[in-house]
Amino acid sequence: METLLAQRQASGWAGSKHPSSEETDVLYQISNFAFDVAKFNPTLTEKNGKRVINLSYGEPTRANGYYVPENITEAVIDVLKAGDKNGYAYHAGPPEARQAIVEKYSKKGYEFEKEDVFFTGGGHGALFTSIHAMCSRGENILIPKPSFPLTDPICQNLGVEIRYYNQFPEKNWEIDLDHMRSLIDAKTKAILVCNPSNPCSVVFSKEHQLEIIKVAQDFKIPLLCDEVYYGLVYPGHTFESFANLTDDVPMVCLNSLSKVYQVPGWRLGWIIVYNRHGHLDIVKDHISKFMRIPFHPCSLIMHALPRILKETPQSYLDDYCKQLATSSEQVYAVVSNQRGLNPIKANAGMYMMVKLNFDEWREGHGITDDKDFVLKFWEAESILLLPSQCFFEKGFVRIVTCISKENADELGIRLARFMSGILKGDK
Ligand SMILES: Cc1ncc(COP(=O)(O)O)c(C=O)c1O
Repeated sequence: METLLAQRQASGWAGSKHPSSEETDVLYQISNFAFDVAKFNPTLTEKNGKRVINLSYGEPTRANGYYVPENITEAVIDVLKAGDKNGYAYHAGPPEARQAIVEKYSKKGYEFEKEDVFFTGGGHGALFTSIHAMCSRGENILIPKPSFPLTDPICQNLGVEIRYYNQFPEKNWEIDLDHMRSLIDAKTKAILVCNPSNPCSVVFSKEHQLEIIKVAQDFKIPLLCDEVYYGLVYPGHTFESFANLTDDVPMVCLNSLSKVYQVPGWRLGWIIVYNRHGHLDIVKDHISKFMRIPFHPCSLIMHALPRILKETPQSYLDDYCKQLATSSEQVYAVVSNQRGLNPIKANAGMYMMVKLNFDEWREGHGITDDKDFVLKFWEAESILLLPSQCFFEKGFVRIVTCISKENADELGIRLARFMSGILKGDK
């Protein structure tokens, strides 16, 4: 021991790197791909003489016509000006803000209380905290495939095994429930469902939700419901939280201001623990203790939340959903026009999955897979998409659809030019 210490002292700073923990050596597929692989630079506006269009991140605020409701900005300004909310907040969040979540989301027959609500740094923090509290090292969690990839670095960090269950793209991305059941064992501690989903951008039918709930009920495994696209469904479709379809299955639901109110940079997310049968007593206790490390979200935003939730008019959400549907239609129109690509219609959210139809591509087109397609398209046409490998699926690309009509049209033009080089019979 002494020799080791002496050696370390003698070697000086040069040549010895501080040994960091392996748990933080994680890989988050989205940012890894955008920044490290595609070398995307957010300040870049032009590349190879073409305007850069970034369709990799789901941020409607970047598109023309999408807007943040004025009342929510005012609510934050008022809290800031009052000057009395600059201190640390109560660890789980201010009681008024927790109560505001109860008033907005607790439904008759499926009630929860303000003590079941915990605020986090966005949906990211909510997902991390929930998985941390629900699963221990060596246990496993079921995750959809394709899925929003955040779970992967979280589970890597926590030593929790991920088991991916399949979904059927041709059936509105419904879950293959037999496959889901086959993955469950004694160490399965949670089933994650994402509805409406990223990257598939669909909302499940109520019937399908009930089938999923039945699996949880049969095996007595709590659901972890990622609902950050809460209510963002296109006209003619309906959304219901999993929490309001059973009063029996315990579950943890997470949500955030990011997508619904178009303020992802405000970093306010929350967890609701539906502690049915007291089955999640320990999970709730652990979340509560974990929250006492004061890394809570910004006090100002939490204190503005009651007004944000109460005063935002329904018309804002209705307009927003219509806008999302229109944008999605525009993207669908240009992509479905394109031979060699099969877009899968979305009915919610802000994305579209597009299958690469290799059968229609000529021999020797030189594109090896979805990742290679995205990289070459980015190189040639300066539009950044995400390959489905970022979502643990192969053979698709994900397009962000909450974009202006101008960008949708431009996408069509550049896709047509790029595809003309690789389609059968075109060259
Ligand atoms: C399905 C899903 N869950 C969670 C998050 C994280 O939410 P937030 O941006 O509020 O941290 C996102 C963000 O894109 C998401 O798409």
